[in-house]
Amino acid sequence: MKPKLCSLIEIPKFSDGRGDLSFVENGLNLPFEINRIYYLYNVPPGETRGAHGHKNLQQLIMALAGSFEITITDGVNSESYLLDRPNIGLLIPRMVWRDLHNFSKDCVCLVVASEKYDEGDYYRSYSEFIGAKNDQIS
Ligand code: TYD
Repeated sequence: MKPKLCSLIEIPKFSDGRGDLSFVENGLNLPFEINRIYYLYNVPPGETRGAHGHKNLQQLIMALAGSFEITITDGVNSESYLLDRPNIGLLIPRMVWRDLHNFSKDCVCLVVASEKYDEGDYYRSYSEFIGAKNDQIS
């Protein structure tokens, strides 16, 4: 069986009569140190986000509200995930391409990131990404 590119993790959930509480914490349920969070919201119907790869950045991504789909590829193998629960996150390693799509109207997508924002860490062009992957292999 080929290894998965990404892994889904269950985020702890404390539920009582007051509602639910979930958390991510450095050193506890993340394989990297948190340097940044950002979130996507008010994504118009049919819009897509992402469409890039990262040289070094690792991320945990989840739907805090609503749902979206994400497709991950390393150029050879692809995986698609539906994220629709605030206590399920997808761990995305470095050097994969991601496309986010099918956002529900109410979606709030949270990204927990291992690095501060650095445009130099991005592959914005798929062909550049594939070129870098091929360089890694050869
Ligand atoms: P973009 O990479 O297009 O978003 P997405 O990955 O969701 O498709 O980012 C949109 C703009 O926001 C772009 O000009 C870069 C800027 N930005 C920051 O300044 N800081 C950040 O942490 C992020 C993620 C983006």
